[in-house]
Amino acid sequence: MRKIVIANNKGGVAKTTSALNLIGYFAKKGYKVLAIDLDPQGNLTDAFGIDLENLEKTAYDALKDKDLSESLLSIAENIDLLPSNLDVEKANLDFVSILGRELLLKKGLSKLEDNYDICIMDTSPNLSTLTLNALTSADSVYIPLKSGYFEMRGASVLLEVIENVKEDINPNLNIGGVFLTQYDSRVNMASEVIEQLENYFGDKLINAKIRNNISLVEAPALMKNIFEYKPNSNGAKDYEALGDEILKREQI
Ligand SMILES: Nc1ncnc2c1ncn2[C@@H]1O[C@H](COP(=O)(O)OP(=O)(O)OP(=O)(O)O)[C@@H](O)[C@H]1O
Ligand SMILES: [Mg+2]
Repeated sequence: MRKIVIANNKGGVAKTTSALNLIGYFAKKGYKVLAIDLDPQGNLTDAFGIDLENLEKTAYDALKDKDLSESLLSIAENIDLLPSNLDVEKANLDFVSILGRELLLKKGLSKLEDNYDICIMDTSPNLSTLTLNALTSADSVYIPLKSGYFEMRGASVLLEVIENVKEDINPNLNIGGVFLTQYDSRVNMASEVIEQLENYFGDKLINAKIRNNISLVEAPALMKNIFEYKPNSNGAKDYEALGDEILKREQI
C-alpha cells in the first residue's frame, strides 16, 4: 500500500476536494483505496454522504487502539473510509501525554498493508497531532497551493515542518509534489509567476493545474466525486491529469 497525504497548513486550498477526487479517480482505475479523514471538520467523510452525527467509531478510536479495522466504513467497491467528526479533535488533547503519539496511525496502518493499493489521507489546516500522524505514516506528501504570493510563503512553513518530520521521525517521507488549485490563468498566473514557482519548487512542481470549476464545488454536495458527477468537465480532466502524474511519480 502506497500511503499519500494531502497537506497544507493553510485553509481552503482544496485539500479535501483533491483527496475526494483523487480517491475517486484511483478507485475508478481499479486500485483498492483506503481513504483516511484526519480533519475533525469531517469534510471528506461528509462528501461521501456519511452522517457525521451518528458515527459509532472514528479516526480517534482507530488511533487510540492503533487499529483501524473496527472504524472502517465501506463506501464503494474499491473504497473504504476511516471517518472523522468533531470527536477526532480529542486526539489533539488526549494523546498529548502518550509517548510516541505521532506513531499511532503508522502502527494501525501497518496491519492493513496488504489490503489496499493506495491510501489517501486528508488533513486539517494546521500542524496538529493528527497531521503529524499522517506525515509520520506517509510515503509521500502532496501539497495543494492556491495560486498567489502569500500562499507560497505558507507553503515554505509547511516545507520546513516536513523537513523536521523527516529529520526526527520519518526519514523516508518523500515530497511527492506541489500542485496549483483554483487556478485562473486570466487573473493570477502570469507566466512570470509560473516561472517563479518553477524556480522555487523545481521538479516538485506538478504540471497538472486544477482550474477553477464550479462542478468541483457542486459534486460533494450531491455525495459524488467529479467523475461520477460531471465526467466531461474541466475539473474531471484536471484531476485525471493530476492523478496520472501522481501514479507516475509514485511508480504505481
Ligand atoms: N478547482 C476549484 N474550483 C472552484 N472551487 C474550488 C476548487 N477547488 C476547491 N474549491 C472550493 O474551495 C473551497 C475550499 O476547498 P476545500 O474544502 O477542498 O479546501 P481545504 O483545503 O480542504 O479546506 P480546509 O483547510 O478547511 O480543510 C470549497 O468550497 C471547494 O468547493
Ligand atoms: Mg479540508
